[in-house]
Amino acid sequence: MATTFMCLTSILFLTLIIIKGSCDCSLNNINIGTTRSGREIQGKPEWNVSVINNCSCDQSQIKLSCQGFQSAETIDPAILSMEGDSCLLINGNSLKGFATVNFSYAWDPPFLLLPTSSVITTCS
Ligand SMILES: *[C@@H]1O[C@H](CO)[C@@H](O)[C@H](O)[C@H]1NC(C)=O
Ligand SMILES: *[C@@H]1O[C@H](CO)[C@@H](O)[C@H](O)[C@H]1NC(C)=O
Ligand SMILES: *[C@@H]1O[C@H](CO)[C@@H](O)[C@H](O)[C@H]1NC(C)=O
Repeated sequence: MATTFMCLTSILFLTLIIIKGSCDCSLNNINIGTTRSGREIQGKPEWNVSVINNCSCDQSQIKLSCQGFQSAETIDPAILSMEGDSCLLINGNSLKGFATVNFSYAWDPPFLLLPTSSVITTCS
Protein backbone atom coordinates (compact mmCIF):
# COMPACT_ATOMS: atom_id res chain seq x y z
CA MET A 1 0.00 0.00 0.00
CA ALA A 2 2.72 2.40 1.06
CA THR A 3 4.77 1.43 -2.00
CA THR A 4 1.86 2.17 -4.34
CA PHE A 5 1.43 5.54 -2.71
CA MET A 6 5.12 6.33 -3.05
CA CYS A 7 5.01 5.28 -6.65
CA LEU A 8 2.01 7.45 -7.43
CA THR A 9 3.56 10.38 -5.62
CA SER A 10 6.77 10.11 -7.58
CA ILE A 11 4.90 9.80 -10.89
CA LEU A 12 2.92 12.90 -10.00
CA PHE A 13 6.10 14.69 -8.98
CA LEU A 14 7.90 13.75 -12.20
CA THR A 15 4.90 14.82 -14.27
CA LEU A 16 4.93 18.18 -12.54
CA ILE A 17 8.63 18.60 -13.28
CA ILE A 18 8.10 17.74 -16.95
CA ILE A 19 5.13 20.10 -17.29
CA LYS A 20 6.94 22.86 -15.44
CA GLY A 21 10.07 22.26 -17.51
CA SER A 22 8.35 22.58 -20.86
CA CYS A 23 5.88 25.32 -20.01
CA ASP A 24 8.08 27.71 -18.14
CA CYS A 25 10.51 28.46 -20.93
CA SER A 26 9.71 31.10 -23.49
CA LEU A 27 11.29 33.84 -25.53
CA ASN A 28 11.16 35.90 -22.33
CA ASN A 29 13.93 33.70 -20.94
CA ILE A 30 16.34 34.89 -23.59
CA ASN A 31 18.08 37.71 -21.75
CA ILE A 32 20.46 40.06 -23.49
CA GLY A 33 23.01 42.06 -21.58
CA THR A 34 25.14 44.75 -23.17
CA THR A 35 28.15 46.28 -21.46
CA ARG A 36 30.76 48.68 -22.66
CA SER A 37 34.05 46.87 -23.12
CA GLY A 38 36.11 50.02 -22.74
CA ARG A 39 37.80 49.53 -26.12
CA GLU A 40 37.29 51.61 -29.23
CA ILE A 41 37.28 50.24 -32.77
CA GLN A 42 37.72 52.80 -35.55
CA GLY A 43 36.70 55.49 -33.08
CA LYS A 44 33.49 53.68 -32.09
CA PRO A 45 32.92 52.28 -28.60
CA GLU A 46 32.90 48.50 -28.39
CA TRP A 47 30.02 46.69 -26.69
CA ASN A 48 30.10 43.18 -25.26
CA VAL A 49 26.81 41.40 -25.66
CA SER A 50 25.83 38.32 -23.67
CA VAL A 51 22.80 36.37 -24.81
CA ILE A 52 21.68 34.07 -22.02
CA ASN A 53 19.12 31.31 -22.28
CA ASN A 54 17.96 31.67 -18.71
CA CYS A 55 15.84 28.53 -18.63
CA SER A 56 16.23 24.75 -18.61
CA CYS A 57 15.01 24.18 -22.18
CA ASP A 58 17.24 24.44 -25.23
CA GLN A 59 16.12 27.09 -27.70
CA SER A 60 17.04 27.19 -31.36
CA GLN A 61 16.38 29.54 -34.30
CA ILE A 62 16.91 32.49 -31.97
CA LYS A 63 16.35 35.74 -33.83
CA LEU A 64 17.01 39.25 -32.61
CA SER A 65 15.60 42.50 -33.86
CA CYS A 66 18.43 44.02 -35.81
CA GLN A 67 17.01 46.97 -37.70
CA GLY A 68 19.80 49.22 -38.92
CA PHE A 69 22.37 47.16 -37.08
CA GLN A 70 25.95 48.05 -38.01
CA SER A 71 29.33 47.33 -36.56
CA ALA A 72 32.77 48.74 -37.15
CA GLU A 73 34.06 45.43 -35.84
CA THR A 74 33.48 42.27 -37.83
CA ILE A 75 31.16 39.80 -36.13
CA ASP A 76 31.62 36.12 -36.85
CA PRO A 77 28.54 35.18 -38.94
CA ALA A 78 28.57 31.79 -37.20
CA ILE A 79 27.64 33.71 -34.04
CA LEU A 80 25.43 36.44 -35.44
CA SER A 81 24.31 36.78 -39.04
CA MET A 82 22.10 39.53 -40.40
CA GLU A 83 19.06 38.72 -42.49
CA GLY A 84 17.40 42.02 -43.27
CA ASP A 85 15.86 43.42 -40.09
CA SER A 86 16.61 40.37 -38.03
CA CYS A 87 19.76 38.65 -36.86
CA LEU A 88 20.11 34.92 -36.51
CA LEU A 89 22.08 33.67 -33.54
CA ILE A 90 24.59 30.79 -33.89
CA ASN A 91 23.25 29.78 -37.34
CA GLY A 92 19.93 28.79 -35.78
CA ASN A 93 21.61 26.07 -33.75
CA SER A 94 20.32 25.38 -30.30
CA LEU A 95 21.46 27.35 -27.31
CA LYS A 96 21.44 24.95 -24.39
CA GLY A 97 19.55 25.66 -21.21
CA PHE A 98 21.40 28.25 -19.11
CA ALA A 99 24.08 28.63 -21.78
CA THR A 100 25.49 31.94 -22.98
CA VAL A 101 26.64 33.27 -26.34
CA ASN A 102 28.90 36.30 -26.33
CA PHE A 103 29.85 38.64 -29.12
CA SER A 104 31.16 42.15 -29.45
CA TYR A 105 30.34 44.96 -31.84
CA ALA A 106 31.39 48.56 -32.16
CA TRP A 107 29.01 51.41 -32.89
CA ASP A 108 27.82 54.67 -31.43
CA PRO A 109 25.13 54.66 -30.09
CA PRO A 110 24.64 50.99 -29.09
CA PHE A 111 21.69 49.09 -30.53
CA LEU A 112 18.76 47.80 -28.53
CA LEU A 113 18.89 44.11 -29.43
CA LEU A 114 15.76 42.24 -28.48
CA PRO A 115 14.86 38.60 -29.03
CA THR A 116 11.97 38.35 -31.51
CA SER A 117 11.54 34.62 -32.00
CA SER A 118 12.88 31.21 -31.07
CA VAL A 119 11.93 27.56 -31.17
CA ILE A 120 11.90 25.75 -27.84
CA THR A 121 13.38 22.31 -28.25
CA THR A 122 14.64 19.82 -25.71
CA CYS A 123 13.84 20.36 -22.06
CA SER A 124 15.83 18.86 -19.26
C1 LIG B 1 34.61 42.12 -23.77
O1 LIG B 1 34.91 41.04 -24.66
C2 LIG B 1 36.30 40.92 -24.93
C3 LIG B 1 36.44 39.87 -26.01
O2 LIG B 1 35.71 38.72 -25.73
C4 LIG B 1 37.00 40.54 -23.62
O3 LIG B 1 38.38 40.41 -23.86
C5 LIG B 1 36.76 41.63 -22.60
O4 LIG B 1 37.31 41.23 -21.36
C6 LIG B 1 35.28 41.90 -22.42
N1 LIG B 1 35.11 43.07 -21.55
C7 LIG B 1 34.18 43.14 -20.60
C8 LIG B 1 34.12 44.42 -19.83
O5 LIG B 1 33.39 42.21 -20.37
C1 LIG C 1 17.42 34.49 -14.72
O1 LIG C 1 16.10 34.37 -14.23
C2 LIG C 1 16.00 34.63 -12.85
C3 LIG C 1 14.57 34.33 -12.43
O2 LIG C 1 13.64 34.93 -13.31
C4 LIG C 1 16.38 36.08 -12.60
O3 LIG C 1 16.30 36.37 -11.22
C5 LIG C 1 17.82 36.28 -13.07
O4 LIG C 1 18.18 37.64 -12.93
C6 LIG C 1 17.96 35.88 -14.53
N1 LIG C 1 19.38 35.92 -14.89
C7 LIG C 1 19.82 36.59 -15.95
C8 LIG C 1 21.28 36.48 -16.19
O5 LIG C 1 19.10 37.24 -16.69
C1 LIG D 1 30.05 35.41 -21.69
O1 LIG D 1 30.32 36.57 -20.97
C2 LIG D 1 29.92 36.51 -19.62
C3 LIG D 1 30.11 37.89 -18.99
O2 LIG D 1 31.29 38.48 -19.43
C4 LIG D 1 30.75 35.41 -18.94
O3 LIG D 1 30.35 35.28 -17.59
C5 LIG D 1 30.51 34.08 -19.65
O4 LIG D 1 31.34 33.09 -19.12
C6 LIG D 1 30.79 34.21 -21.13
N1 LIG D 1 30.33 32.97 -21.77
C7 LIG D 1 30.99 32.37 -22.78
C8 LIG D 1 30.37 31.14 -23.34
O5 LIG D 1 32.04 32.84 -23.23
